[in-house]
Amino acid sequence: MELPVGVWGHYGFSSSPYSTSALQVAGADETLLVGRDQELRTVLRDLISGTQMVALEGDYGVGKSSLAAVAASTASRWRQARDSIAPLFLAPGRPLELEEKDTASSLERRAYFQVAGSILANEDRLIREGINLTQLNEFRYWLTTPTGGGWSAGIGASFPAVIGTNLSIGRTRSSNTSTGFTESGVITLIDSWLAAIFVTPEAGGVILLLDNLEVLSRFTKGVQLFESLRDRLFKRQGLRWIISGAEGTVRAALSTPKMSGVFPEPIDIAPLPHDLVKLVIARREEAFRVRSDAKLPVSPSAFEDAYAATGRNLRIALGLAERFSLRTEPGDMAWMTPEERDARFWAWTVNEGEKVIKQISDKVTDKQWKVLTTLVTDLDGFATSANAGDFGYKSLSSFQAHVQALAALRLVNYTADEQDGRRRIITATETGRLAVASRPSSSVPGK
Ligand SMILES: Nc1ncnc2c1ncn2[C@@H]1O[C@H](COP(=O)(O)OP(=O)(O)OP(=O)(O)O)[C@@H](O)[C@H]1O
Ligand SMILES: [Mg+2]
Repeated sequence: MELPVGVWGHYGFSSSPYSTSALQVAGADETLLVGRDQELRTVLRDLISGTQMVALEGDYGVGKSSLAAVAASTASRWRQARDSIAPLFLAPGRPLELEEKDTASSLERRAYFQVAGSILANEDRLIREGINLTQLNEFRYWLTTPTGGGWSAGIGASFPAVIGTNLSIGRTRSSNTSTGFTESGVITLIDSWLAAIFVTPEAGGVILLLDNLEVLSRFTKGVQLFESLRDRLFKRQGLRWIISGAEGTVRAALSTPKMSGVFPEPIDIAPLPHDLVKLVIARREEAFRVRSDAKLPVSPSAFEDAYAATGRNLRIALGLAERFSLRTEPGDMAWMTPEERDARFWAWTVNEGEKVIKQISDKVTDKQWKVLTTLVTDLDGFATSANAGDFGYKSLSSFQAHVQALAALRLVNYTADEQDGRRRIITATETGRLAVASRPSSSVPGK
């Protein structure tokens, strides 16, 4: 069988213009970041001021990880672009994702894999700058031995190039076949490198990205875990953190007695305003087009409409446009005008929503619809039980009963706020957003 041409190739693009992945540190993704000048300036100013942790708080899919990645990659180029008085920031390529099974030591280990990898990847330049990295060759040698305790694989996961090529050089260069390192010994060694490279907070640091902090709320001892990381990781010399999470977890985690006042206030990341959303697609069109006659299956303005109708969530709108593109015959679309393609996208979106509505319509009361519609159209899909008044409810219990009914149908997620057990967090799911987008507004009952 002939190798099929990918959908994006058919449309004239090298890859998906609607990818839902966060922008990356390593990619040339800064040009793709739209409308975050203010937030980016704040993050960069915090980094250059010596702040050890910058926290980003915002709803799922609004763009926290992308902002963090672009900030880290921008900071990592300061020293190269300017002169040696600029602070030195090293930025591992990938964020650390918090996992439910994590402990303080598993997280420390993963963080140090990244730190070691970024130092090894910059070894030549650091040595050129006169920095003394003690026992570097011994460390390299140890990585290739069975006693290396998985460090080689751990570093390789984030820095394949370091492990693939440089390591073999290290092996031949090393005349030392002496002892290995213990787990704590490696960390102490890496700490000594950090101390040698980043003598003062203003000298820079390795920027580590810690994403999806909302996972903390699913830990039994999430708050304690986070607090125990304070001295163990967040305050370590030479480490800088950009942490992010949804559902209010970042703010909550930073406001416990042990954490409060230690780091600056989280930066709120709000949904991108409507007028900038077209640019998200236009920039990707520029960056990914490989033919002059490339055709976007979903135009920037159709994308903006979908974004507005589903409650201003980039990830969800991108996901819709991507799924539509993958399930529509590119050959048919090629002959259509942009308006015809957009009409088709809209019909497809409404149809997706109608499928949801069909399954649930006899289960959702008018009052519940009203709650869901307000959530998506007025509150960008995110609220807490403290917002009951915004939905027109004086009684919390009747409001909560509606929300629970919507949650049972998976139209919203409904979780407890870990800090404040009485407060509940309500997030519209993609299904809930689609249902609202497709339900004729005329049938939405008044208050
Ligand atoms: N400012 C922006 N400009 C252009 N694209 C963006 C921007 N912010 C986010 N995106 C895109 O939107 C999608 C969601 O962004 P991202 O993953 O950064 O959000 P997030 O807030 O980290 O989400 P989550 O809470 O699920 O981790 C990604 O495809 C990303 O590339
Ligand atoms: Mg993220």
